[in-house]
Amino acid sequence: MIHGIPRPSYCIPAKYPYHGSDPMPAPLRILGIETSCDETAVALLTLDGDDVRIERNLVSSQIPIHQIYGGVVPEVAARAHVLETVSLLTEALGDSWRDAFNAIAVTRGPGLSMALLMGLEAGKMLAILSGKPIFGVNHLEGHLASAWLNAENRLRWTFPLLALSASGSHSELVLMKDFGAYEHLAGTRDDAAGEAFDKTARLMGMPYPGGPQIAKLAEQGRVGTFPLPRPMLTDPSLDFSFSGLKTAVRQLWERSPEIFQDPQAKSDLAAEIQAAIVEVLVEKAARAVEIHGVRGVVLVGGVSANLHLRAEMQAMLNKRFPGTAFLPSDRAYVTDNAAMIAAAGAWHLRRGEQHDPLTLDIDPELGF
Ligand code: KG4
Ligand code: ZN
Repeated sequence: MIHGIPRPSYCIPAKYPYHGSDPMPAPLRILGIETSCDETAVALLTLDGDDVRIERNLVSSQIPIHQIYGGVVPEVAARAHVLETVSLLTEALGDSWRDAFNAIAVTRGPGLSMALLMGLEAGKMLAILSGKPIFGVNHLEGHLASAWLNAENRLRWTFPLLALSASGSHSELVLMKDFGAYEHLAGTRDDAAGEAFDKTARLMGMPYPGGPQIAKLAEQGRVGTFPLPRPMLTDPSLDFSFSGLKTAVRQLWERSPEIFQDPQAKSDLAAEIQAAIVEVLVEKAARAVEIHGVRGVVLVGGVSANLHLRAEMQAMLNKRFPGTAFLPSDRAYVTDNAAMIAAAGAWHLRRGEQHDPLTLDIDPELGF
């Protein structure tokens, strides 16, 4: 079966060269491939005992293409992934491509179907042609693994951990009990945290992605000038809801459009938007730390690039949970990349887990 469709008989190779690997090679040299949304990424990661080395980390962003449309268009993204995957793989692997890696980790979901398919098929093809083992990675687990790429974080990586993963498409609180053993504690009921940044920025006339621009404007802004709600802050559930912020900013624009022309007022509004999102994220994380008594807090996803969020999370832990480690991913690895996919793949491959490339399929709705 291919994506639910029966495989035509002429598709089944008479001699199928793939044999996977048993036992897993050591050191593991993993080729990572990521194409779930708007970044095409290829990485080479070496796992040699406790030593983890990122040998190559190539990311080709489609942001300039999607800015033309004001968001990610799946069809456009998929076509760009085909071209970019080929060129990044060529650059990363070189002529002796078979010797450049001994295992493959590729994103299988969640994400845009067409985009996921491009990377997954490339990974499967390489696995079949090279006979090397392949693991289809959950993109959400990939984000968690981005924090593990940092050597200092690895030294303090003691389960159970709480992870806050906040990006343009997800805002999740996850209890990490072990590598590969997760309990999903909470998510967003509507917009993700990054979406709240992006949509409010758009209302303010700024292009996608809005998060970094709101953060920049907020540097000169004052919190409290234009009070905005802190959605779900007092709700007993750990869930998030950010769509009310977008509505509040839209209402402000309808009432007082002049604010959106004044540079200081725009900075003040940006500071308020950022403060509202960060306060909710940090408070819900604090509540989860209290309930689950974790040893550390992992902070990942595109929104974790936000310096105010990092500072507030660190301050909250220092004040309320001293001794709880703060484990943010390096800012270079917070947005989608293939090094984090290779790292998550490593967590499974080193235990001997692998997929059959003939049956490995995308899962656009994959959760924790
Ligand atoms: O993880 P990511 O690259 O893509 C998804 O999987 O969604 O995250 C992108 C998101 C965007 O919403 C972007 O606005 C947000 O991360 N972002 C930020 C910052 N840098 C990126 N949000 C707030 N502050 C930032 N500095
Ligand atoms: Zn992502």
